[in-house]
Amino acid sequence: MKKSIKLSFIFITITSLLISCSSKDSSKTNSALGYNSAEKVYVPPGEYDEFYAFISGGFSGQLSVYGLPSGRLFKIIPVFSVDGEKGFGFNEETKNLLNTSFGFIPWGDSHHPDISQTDGKLDGRWVFINENNTPRIAKVDLSVFETTEIIEIPNTAGNHSSSYVTENTEYVIAGTRFSIPFPQRDMPIKDYKGNFKGVLSFLEVDPDNGNMNLSFQIMMPGFDYDKAHPGRGDSHGWFFYTTYNTEEAYSLLEVNASQNDKDFIAAVNWKKAEEYIKQGKFKTFKTNYAHNMYDESTQTATTKWIKEVKILDPADLPGLVYFLPTPKSPHGVDIDPSGEYIVGNGKLSADVTVHSFSKMIKAIEEEKFSGETYGIPIIDFEAVHAGSVKQAGLGPLHTEFDDNGYAYTSFFISSELVKWKLGTWEVIDRKPTFYSPGHLMIPGGNSGSPFGKYALVMNKITKDRYLPTGPEVTQSAQLYDITGDKMELLLDFPTVGEPHYAAGIPADIIKPQSKKIYKLEENKHKYATLSPSDTKVVRKGKEVHIYMTTIRSHFTPDNIEGVRVGDKVYFHVTNLEQDYDVPHGVAMIGANTSEILVMPGQTETFTWEPKKVGVWPFYCTDFCSALHQEMQGYIRVSPRNSNIKLSWSLD
Ligand code: CUA
Repeated sequence: MKKSIKLSFIFITITSLLISCSSKDSSKTNSALGYNSAEKVYVPPGEYDEFYAFISGGFSGQLSVYGLPSGRLFKIIPVFSVDGEKGFGFNEETKNLLNTSFGFIPWGDSHHPDISQTDGKLDGRWVFINENNTPRIAKVDLSVFETTEIIEIPNTAGNHSSSYVTENTEYVIAGTRFSIPFPQRDMPIKDYKGNFKGVLSFLEVDPDNGNMNLSFQIMMPGFDYDKAHPGRGDSHGWFFYTTYNTEEAYSLLEVNASQNDKDFIAAVNWKKAEEYIKQGKFKTFKTNYAHNMYDESTQTATTKWIKEVKILDPADLPGLVYFLPTPKSPHGVDIDPSGEYIVGNGKLSADVTVHSFSKMIKAIEEEKFSGETYGIPIIDFEAVHAGSVKQAGLGPLHTEFDDNGYAYTSFFISSELVKWKLGTWEVIDRKPTFYSPGHLMIPGGNSGSPFGKYALVMNKITKDRYLPTGPEVTQSAQLYDITGDKMELLLDFPTVGEPHYAAGIPADIIKPQSKKIYKLEENKHKYATLSPSDTKVVRKGKEVHIYMTTIRSHFTPDNIEGVRVGDKVYFHVTNLEQDYDVPHGVAMIGANTSEILVMPGQTETFTWEPKKVGVWPFYCTDFCSALHQEMQGYIRVSPRNSNIKLSWSLD
């Protein structure tokens, strides 16, 4: 017995030596991981990860919170889709967050999270994330890891070139992927050209509370606006958007939108836009969109309907927008930490095209234009081109940056991650990703100060990296160590939904500000009950309002009689706990909503419409103490015509 343990120990040691020797040969590191790689992602029990990663859920509509380097999943924050686990979108407090001009929308397609910044550095206050399908932008408050605001984006369809922030979070931006008739109307699709427009949106962000407000929109030609990034440093004040379908095709886009040798990166001078707004050079258009805001003190979301929007037309406003010719159907546009380089990832190109911001400014001053389209000047390609990374791979999609002058590009078709040097454009290293990658993320990669320790590469086309789970293959991310000349694959881990992008941040920035409880004395919820002796049950016609409290381990009241079939019963539950990590949940048999999960000091409301006569139980859904199973109660439901008076127990 002892002998075999010793032998296997020797075998492991030899194996790890072999692996660590061969890891110098980059061609072999990709098929097998060394034990040294395992150590690099191992976070011992009880210890914390170094980074938070916020990974979008794509068609799940949500935002997942992971730790890096371990790849451990901490939380799924409900954003655009209802969530029965937390009652999001089901309870009375949060359901207004999902209001839109199309009605209550229970599902969304979440894409690109971006963390708020101050002076070009991540400040960790909020994450903004866009909904692609029914265009919206949400704000998640990182002190509580909850969605606290969702604003609908009018005149937009396929809200894809969104939701990136400027270096002081002056704006979070949005852009339309699909051009649509402007204004929206009933018209033949074949009349697309010239009649369909693409709108870019600028939402100002209140520096104190992060609240968004759609300040203005820019009405662009009817191209598809795919991705965007802000300038920084000298290019602060500009925003850059990729376009494809500059052909303005409206059918069979895979062929008809791939005709032009070059499409454009649109450079938008938003400081100029602010001047034009001040000068009143906008047109006001009628619209109707929802602005949903969660109020922290009332703990309740309300919807405001906004009826007007300011539109700027670049054809009439010189200096507002320029086009930078970029091969070929570019997907990502990424700006390096200095703000000088504008990297266009032409998805049908073998090269990565890089433009220079300083050359762009010079070309504008010297009017080096090769033409114009819809009144917008097209800058001469040579006058703005800084260089290209030649034959870097096939199908470049996205680029992120470290803090040492290197860029990292994902290649969808050749399935690899390529490291190259800014300025010399030479390829330094390449590693296969084992699936067709889409986005990649370096913590702080969209800021002036990235943390170049890890690159997280996320799949587009899934591959069988894990045990099969039926026809739907697990979505995945891969973590690379990028501290050396050669990148090293450390870890695969599954993601929730399709990971369209991620935002990473050192845990030290977020951890100290993480809220532990809601203070009861600050609870201004309309139905808050701050003591068990204040609990009551009130009938208002067919509505029955239960003012309920929870504390380990009982509900007050716990037995209620006098409810009738056809009533609508509101459970307004205040969790009186003031200790960290003691939520209580409530669920009621036959409720057509979900449970609610009430945090310490919080009030939440769910509704139940009793349909059957009888005595029906409710119970706590969150294991709260050794007597959790005793945390229960009954509601007696009598026939509609019963005259049993409302009564309840208070012990
Ligand atoms: Cu309260 Cu379980």
